Formats: sequence, C-alpha cells, structure tokens
Amino acid sequence: MSGDQVITVDGPAASGKGTIASGLGRLYGLPVLDSGLLYRAVGVLLQRAGGGLADAAAAAAVARGLRAVALDDEAFRTRGAGEAASQVAVHPEVRQVLLALQRDFAAQPGGAVLDGRDMGTVICPDAGAKLYVTASPEVRAERRWRQLTGQGESVGLDEVLADIRRRDARDSGRAAAPMAPAPDAVLLDTSEMTIDQAADAARRIVEAARAGQTP
Ligand code: C5P
Repeated sequence: MSGDQVITVDGPAASGKGTIASGLGRLYGLPVLDSGLLYRAVGVLLQRAGGGLADAAAAAAVARGLRAVALDDEAFRTRGAGEAASQVAVHPEVRQVLLALQRDFAAQPGGAVLDGRDMGTVICPDAGAKLYVTASPEVRAERRWRQLTGQGESVGLDEVLADIRRRDARDSGRAAAPMAPAPDAVLLDTSEMTIDQAADAARRIVEAARAGQTP
C-alpha cells in the first residue's frame, strides 16, 4: 500500500486533532477516519452486552462485528465512552481486529485522513504527511469540558482534567501501540491557537511534507 496521499493526525484527547483532521479532509476532498470512534463503539457495545472492559476476548469479538455497526450513535461521544474506549484499547487482540479495518480505509484510492493515536506509527507508517497535535492538559480539559457540558453532560472541569490525565497516562503507557509521535511526524501545539490558526498551520505542514520539505 502506498501512503503518499494519506495524512495522519495523531495526538491526545481534545488536542484539536479531530477538528484539524476534518478540516484537512474538506480541504483536500479526502475521507476522514475518526479511529477513536471505533474504540468508543467497542467499549460501549461491550458494556451494553454485559461484558467487562478487561475481557480481551469478549472485546475482540465485539470489534469483529464492528463493520456492520453505524458509528453515528451519540452514546459513543460521551465521557464514559471515552473512558471505556481507552480501557478496551489496551488489548492487543482488539487492536489487531481494528487494524485491518483501518488499513482498508487508508488504502482507498485517492488517499484518506486518519485521526487517532497510532495512525502514523502503526496503521500507516508510510503516510505522505504526519502530524502530531498536542496542547496542554489544562487547555484540553477546558475544551473537552465545554464540549461535554454543551452535549448536556453535568461534569466539573476538575473531573475532566483528571480524566484527561488518566487517559493520557493509560494511552501512552500501554504496551500495545502506545500513543506517541512517529519519528517523522511534525509536532503542532495548539494550546495558544484559534481553530483557524491551527487549521492553517496544519495545512502548511501537509503542503511542506508533500513538497518534500520540512515546514
Ligand atoms: O480520540 P478519542 O478520544 O475518541 O479516543 C478514545 C480512546 O480510544 C483513546 O483514549 C484511546 O485509548 C483509544 N484510541 C486508540 N487508538 C486510536 C484511537 C483511539 O487507542 N487510534
């Protein structure tokens, strides 16, 4: 598979990577994969079926059925779903099942934008452009808190900050495909940026990568 036309956008929760990935998708007319949604769906559907998040075999079985599931369920966007996602995401069996699905998405003719934690390291190491989007935990917590309260969830900013720190530690500390920048990814810290500034910086990174330069 040639990843020339693939753009990977990795980074921690609420770093701005989802907004950046969808903006790049619109700009270049590419389909966007929100891979976090796959892990969220596995976590939520496993819990709905009465399974425990620590049960790797049961989680992998749910992941195998995912191609037939509509991912536009609001239940996958909640705070609890994010936490469940990061617990099932530690299982190598689950990651292995989702690998094929994500690689198929990346291999579409014309390319794709892939948003996640291990897109540039594991799913598409030969992507033509790789971004690693970060922001301080405090800034990310505030963004996520606004999003969750806007969706009607009742939660304090301090609780969201604690969630973010716990999830960062679990995602970067796990043995299977830990969250990490690919060696050839360009880091983009959005802490002090507006959405438009971040989108513009991301576009410049992609254009420089495609032109074979560093920005
Ligand atoms: O990006 P989002 O916050 O929706 O991801 C939810 C969780 O899914 C992450 O905290 C992480 O544990 C897991 N995930 C992952 N690999 C990806 C995308 C998400 O492990 N490529």
